[in-house]
Amino acid sequence: MKLVTLDDVRHATSGSDNSAAQPAFDLFGLAGEPSHERVVFASDPATGLQSIIALYSTTRGPAFGGCRYWAYDNQVAALHDALRLSQGMALKNALADLPFGGGKAVVLKNAKQTDRCALFQSFGAFVDSLGGRYLTAEDVGTTADDMFAVREKTQYVSGMPREGEFGGNPSPQTALGVFVGIESAVRRVLGKSSLEGVSVAVQGLGSVGWHLCEQLHAAHATLIVADIDAQKVARAVELFGASAVTVDAITGVEADVFAPCAMGGSITPIVAANCRFRIVAGGANNQLMSLADGDTLHRRDVFYVPDFLINAGGIISCVREYEGNATREGVVTEVRRIGERVSELYDRAVASRAPTARIADAWAKEKLVV
Ligand code: NAI
Repeated sequence: MKLVTLDDVRHATSGSDNSAAQPAFDLFGLAGEPSHERVVFASDPATGLQSIIALYSTTRGPAFGGCRYWAYDNQVAALHDALRLSQGMALKNALADLPFGGGKAVVLKNAKQTDRCALFQSFGAFVDSLGGRYLTAEDVGTTADDMFAVREKTQYVSGMPREGEFGGNPSPQTALGVFVGIESAVRRVLGKSSLEGVSVAVQGLGSVGWHLCEQLHAAHATLIVADIDAQKVARAVELFGASAVTVDAITGVEADVFAPCAMGGSITPIVAANCRFRIVAGGANNQLMSLADGDTLHRRDVFYVPDFLINAGGIISCVREYEGNATREGVVTEVRRIGERVSELYDRAVASRAPTARIADAWAKEKLVV
């Protein structure tokens, strides 16, 4: 395995066809934020691995966060994703009172990766080279099988079912946290004690979005759905009586709740300024394009529940699995506390009249200082 230097990255990105279109940014962190503690690159020609692990903060403990496997437009986009996602993990773990810092890995999908098992074994060796400063699990594009391959090379991995023990795919717990968060937001914002008849627009019907729809349907919510995968949409229409709209239309529909559960960046300046939702509360990471979009939602009286507060169910599941001796009941109880935090966010917002995105950001960052 070859560790790639920052000079390699600078050279590669300055030669990229898309480099002119990319905003300039710091290789070591996000604009206006403290630098990340560590950003590490690895490549392995034998398996086609190209991976970045970003550690935002380890003040609370080793950095814990999943591994995304994605076909990025270019290396700069992959680095930016790793930087943003790892910061989000630090805030998420802190707000969930987990004894871990925040980090994230991305594996850049490319045509040379013909042996998936070997690819993730190679990624496992990369994780292991950090000596436990970073612990990995599933994220978008990775599965429990990938984590089994990772575990062949490192002990610093979670998210795999083990016989007789709690664990495995964290998505159901993520969806549960989002569901109780929506219940809580609806209670506080709309004054409704049940989701019956509450309209929820769900963007993305993958692992999280699908489990969320199941629970919303069971609670008699009215569903509006969109996904790039027409088959998933057709199943949601059939099983949940959902109304289907196109992926371009979902952010423009009128609904009590918008639940982004696909990729990040759903709340663009245009969406923030024009959306017809009372509440934005979903599972996707990095829903806002920027904090300014959270300010716009606040001015328009849309209650935004920051992603890193509401989607912590999955990492709670992975952490408790990793620590051992976890029970499903214990994890479910802990995930359900997300509902209490959403209610506290509402109280803080009423008291301070500040945008919820900024309140949650400051709330989590206080907990990063130990
Ligand atoms: P997934 O890959 O299983 O599902 C994503 C879904 O979004 C797919 O069905 C895909 O077809 C759809 N999609 C992609 N682009 C779309 C678009 N433009 N419009 C509508 N649908 C689109 O991923 P998963 O695991 O469900 O994660 C979803 C989001 O939740 C991601 O942002 C992830 O980072 C976040 N998340 C996931 C956790 C988990 O436990 N899986 C934990 C915390 C956050």
